[in-house]
Amino acid sequence: MNVEKIRDDFAYLDGKKVGKEVIYLDTGATSQKPSCVIEAVDNYYRYSNANPHRGAHFLSWKATEAYENTREVVRKFIGAKRASEIVFTRSTTESINLLAYSYGLSKLRSGDEILISILDHHANLVPWQMVAKKTGAKLVYAYLKDDYSLDYDDLRSKINEKTKIVSITGSSNVTGELIDSKLITKWAHEVGAISIVDGAQLIPHVKTDVVDIDCDFLAFSGHKMFSPMGIGVLYGKYELLKELEPFNLGGDMIEYVYEQESTYQDPPLKFEAGTPNVGGVIGIGAAIEYVEKIGMEEIFAYEHELTQYAYDLIKDIPNIKIFYPPKDKAGSVISFTFTDIHPHDIATILDSKGIAVRSGHHCAMPLHQYLGTSATARATFSIYNTKKEAEIFAKELKNVRKVMGL
Ligand SMILES: Cc1ncc(COP(=O)(O)O)c(C=O)c1O
Repeated sequence: MNVEKIRDDFAYLDGKKVGKEVIYLDTGATSQKPSCVIEAVDNYYRYSNANPHRGAHFLSWKATEAYENTREVVRKFIGAKRASEIVFTRSTTESINLLAYSYGLSKLRSGDEILISILDHHANLVPWQMVAKKTGAKLVYAYLKDDYSLDYDDLRSKINEKTKIVSITGSSNVTGELIDSKLITKWAHEVGAISIVDGAQLIPHVKTDVVDIDCDFLAFSGHKMFSPMGIGVLYGKYELLKELEPFNLGGDMIEYVYEQESTYQDPPLKFEAGTPNVGGVIGIGAAIEYVEKIGMEEIFAYEHELTQYAYDLIKDIPNIKIFYPPKDKAGSVISFTFTDIHPHDIATILDSKGIAVRSGHHCAMPLHQYLGTSATARATFSIYNTKKEAEIFAKELKNVRKVMGL
């Protein structure tokens, strides 16, 4: 992978235009965008802009074609069987909310169980709390081992005939752990539960095949993988999508509308009410083309090695505490804190040196409570980061202690 060439694609590395040289280690929150994605979106709004699916004119036809062609691009990218299994949403959050409202509320009953893990992001936790409250179902958690990795024995022991939904992250946004979604899906199916994968931190980094995993649903966001914000995907097995009630209702998702009732389109349009984010869809299509050109395997290998490199550079800094799983399960995230410095101070001091890391609970409050800390600092590594940047990060992180007078 030619990192220097890749860096040419990212305008944020132009310190003069940005106003500051930035070492961006916050891709876990959102990625920077390559020029090809920005240009694709720009071109769409300049030369193809119209409301899709509803006009007989040339521009509407062009917008519809671009929109539906991208559905096919996404299908291929995640290995789905049919393009109609790809629903465009706003984000991972919206995709999971769709499942909570359309599947959870209608299928679950008192005494049923929803299994998630303590690693899960609020997006894959709060909607299930709502379903549990409204239906009387129970929200059950799988916990971690002492090495911060998911305890698969604990998880398996919590799957039983009451379990109806198993919804687990494909990769943690705090520990970075890559989860064996295929194995978990198999266990879920053994008791007749459905398996949902939160792919927000998985899809941008690891080549994923939904047919191989056999999950029933998978959610992800474009913006963590070089696309614009406001575009997400829900993959669902067609027969399950077909039987789900729509989540949003209105224009474009209907077949016939009468005064008192309506009939709906088949999936995926049934779930895409209103004017869609065509610009975002064009953006995610361009982003997929971009990562495929580089190669998902190459991306994973590079990010994994770089993250390990950074981890080795910081792991022995005095008083550092790193919530990092064993190397063979690690992704491209390092969350850490000092026993005697607050993560917000760490992030502020690093920012003064032009290094962008995240600090806080990263939308995983129960996980932080479980880990016994209110917050962590988090560095995430992507294809535009370099070893030199990792070295500067490590050097300045050591310096944080001096700045704090420790
Ligand atoms: C693991 C995980 N799931 C879900 C989300 C929610 O993604 P979005 O805010 O794009 O909906 C995030 C975002 O950080 C995440 O890291």
